[in-house]
Amino acid sequence: MRQNLQLTEQQRSFDPSQRRISATDAKGKILNCNDVFKATSGFTRKELIDSQHNIIRHPGMQPHVYEHMWRCLKAKKSWMGIVKNCCKIDDQYWVDAHITPTFNKAG
Ligand SMILES: Cc1cc2nc3c(=O)[nH]c(=O)nc-3n(C[C@H](O)[C@H](O)[C@H](O)COP(=O)(O)O)c2cc1C
Repeated sequence: MRQNLQLTEQQRSFDPSQRRISATDAKGKILNCNDVFKATSGFTRKELIDSQHNIIRHPGMQPHVYEHMWRCLKAKKSWMGIVKNCCKIDDQYWVDAHITPTFNKAG
């Protein structure tokens, strides 16, 4: 998670039909994302790729949300939940997150 954020009270809203999509490795490192995800975050693609997904973590989110998320993913189950994220310039946005683990043949 980024430290010393200067959080704004500015909440951003977006067209809900536009999906923010990211793909990570098994440890949460961002491998890819779509342009909507990038634009929403305010980071460049270079800043996002190979960064941990907590680059957009909002410090107000309770840790147990992510603990539950990771318990589900490690058990090879999907996870859904409402998550507040933080943009690069410290505005915030809520997402209705759907995360599904995928596996290669080696498991
Ligand atoms: C596919 C995937 C998507 C994720 N999406 C988010 C997200 O949108 N926001 C977020 O804060 N954490 C997200 N996470 C969880 C982060 O990897 C991380 O666990 C979380 O930000 C808490 O940070 P911490 O582990 O440093 O405490 C996602 C993880 C995965 C695997």
